[in-house]
Amino acid sequence: MIKRWIVASVFAVSGIWGANALINPAGPSVTALSVVKGVTDPDAISTRLISSEDLPPEGTRSLFDHVVSQANGVPYPFEKLVEAIAKLDPSAQSPVVVMLPQGRSLLKAQANESHPRIVMAADFQSPNSRSTLGLNTRGQLFLGFVENANEIEVLSYNEAAGRFEFQLVQDYSETGARKLVYAKRQVCTTCHQGGAPIFSQRPWAETNASEKTAEAIAVARKAAGLNPASYLGFPVKVGLDVPERLDELTDIGNFFAATQKLWLDACGEGDSGNQCRRQMLKTAVAYSAEPGGFNDTLSMADRLRQLQAKGMAGKTIQVPESDLNNRDPYAEPEGWRAKVSHYFAKPAKAGDGAKSNEDLEAFDRLPKLPSVLDPLTLRLPKRTLTPKDIDGAYGLASLLTYSDVESLRAAAGGDLNVVYQAIDRAPASLFDPKPFVRVHMMQSLLSPAVMASVAASPRYAMLDTSEMSAPVSIGLPPLALNAESPLNDYQKYCFSCHRGNPQKRLNFMAGSDEKEVLAVLKKKSEVREALDWERYQGTDKASKLMPPTDSAQYRLMTSDLKQNPQLLDKMRAVIPGLFDF
Ligand code: HEC
Ligand code: HEC
Repeated sequence: MIKRWIVASVFAVSGIWGANALINPAGPSVTALSVVKGVTDPDAISTRLISSEDLPPEGTRSLFDHVVSQANGVPYPFEKLVEAIAKLDPSAQSPVVVMLPQGRSLLKAQANESHPRIVMAADFQSPNSRSTLGLNTRGQLFLGFVENANEIEVLSYNEAAGRFEFQLVQDYSETGARKLVYAKRQVCTTCHQGGAPIFSQRPWAETNASEKTAEAIAVARKAAGLNPASYLGFPVKVGLDVPERLDELTDIGNFFAATQKLWLDACGEGDSGNQCRRQMLKTAVAYSAEPGGFNDTLSMADRLRQLQAKGMAGKTIQVPESDLNNRDPYAEPEGWRAKVSHYFAKPAKAGDGAKSNEDLEAFDRLPKLPSVLDPLTLRLPKRTLTPKDIDGAYGLASLLTYSDVESLRAAAGGDLNVVYQAIDRAPASLFDPKPFVRVHMMQSLLSPAVMASVAASPRYAMLDTSEMSAPVSIGLPPLALNAESPLNDYQKYCFSCHRGNPQKRLNFMAGSDEKEVLAVLKKKSEVREALDWERYQGTDKASKLMPPTDSAQYRLMTSDLKQNPQLLDKMRAVIPGLFDF
């Protein structure tokens, strides 16, 4: 506690958030904190090589973007989105889900007992086949959904860039815009200080594994005439094993970020740096192949320590703290709770959330948590690593899947020494100072040039961005349409799914102003066909008609057509027919 304040005071004295922090025990505002650079070493290679921009580096995307792009857009409602993620799991288990009615997230003011915040984590690794690499979602894909805010927060790993991406799905409602945007990273990392997931420690009293919390949800839902046993298809009461697993998954994710630092900064640059990274990978494989029997005093690990000593040249590496102190919202003093409840009682507006500075100001006006419980309080590092620590190897081991190590071993005819030799033989460029990319590494090790027994490198489905639309950052002004704009109907019935769709083919209503959108839309001649209900209904092409018959937009359009039978013709007239050219 005292140490935390020393950290805070250093910033205060250096004038970053002013003298207030010293006299105001409630601590600095989120607005003030969002401009503070983290405790990251500014001179580290990782700081230089791992982007801290809001948008992902060119040609790379978040895991979430890949998943929803393959699903033709962000599925709606939330249950369908969770289903789409669950469907990727070969064992078909549902993801890990907890509810937090009174949490500490940026959206805390809009969640409540009848509509708690939902936090979901994917938790599976798909096995590799001879020709493909399986997906690793463990510690890599998290959602936070607050229905009253119509917003999903997304935290998912960007494999090719070696960092987590912070995204939002805004206006996530039946006929809403459902905009998938990259958030202001600096805002998110004020609490997510490692650039990674965070979660409270046991016994997770904020979650619905706590009797009191689950009871409060059930009571509030019953009083509101809602199902007291389940919300959005998820159980209102869960066992302690559920938040425990979520806690583990956030720790795993947090350590991915630290692992990239170790891969780059513990090994350093130059020949010895490359040698160090090879050694780190070999040690990771040795550990993964036999976690129980792995002996970290053997020469393999010692060699890594020597190389790290050279690479770190007297420096240490900080592992960010992803654990928050446990907090029991129902044990808090009445006065404080009453103030918060007063805020909770205000009706939330649709699409409200951390989407602009105005919203952040609203967040800052909320009563402050005691700093020891506040996720905004700068946390001391979880650990400080020296060259003696070989955690980088353990981190790489968790970026690889169980199946990866099996694939390597199989290609090596069962002999791990052959795998180590392959690592020695693999091209130097793989061990240059660049983020560790599991897929590139595996594709290279499992290539005919490196392993004689391999016919062709395995493919991977979630890395190619060539069929994806450009990433969108938060804060772009909404499209302004005047009352006569031919786009108004498209906005009403189509934008939810075709504006900001991560799949290029389906993003044909994109553009920053009316002229641009019209130009893009007019090129999509298929739209004329998709709106030709008269011609195609009842034929084998009926499934191509738009909007899809199971959508709210379809119901809306069907009912509007009764008032305005010319609607479809009017919309089709916006798109030039083939003969108009
Ligand atoms: C005021 C602090 C704070 C800020 C700012 C913040 N978060 Fe969080 N976030 C939390 C806390 C606390 C949790 C864990 C408990 C919970 O979800 O209520 C969390 C959890 C999450 C989760 C679930 C996975 C996890 O880490 O447990 C996602 C996804 C998420 N946040 C996304 C975001 C995004 C995107 C932003 C930026 C727009 C953001 N957060 C900004 C406090 C914050
Ligand atoms: C609820 C979401 C949703 C809404 C609303 C919606 N679409 Fe679609 N649309 C889709 C999906 C998903 C596909 C992809 C279907 C597929 O390929 O199987 C699609 C495909 C299309 C295609 C074919 C694109 C291609 O390249 O194959 C056109 C054209 C189209 N939609 C036009 C429209 C128009 C016009 C509207 C509004 C009247 C509309 N859509 C409303 C979800 C939607």
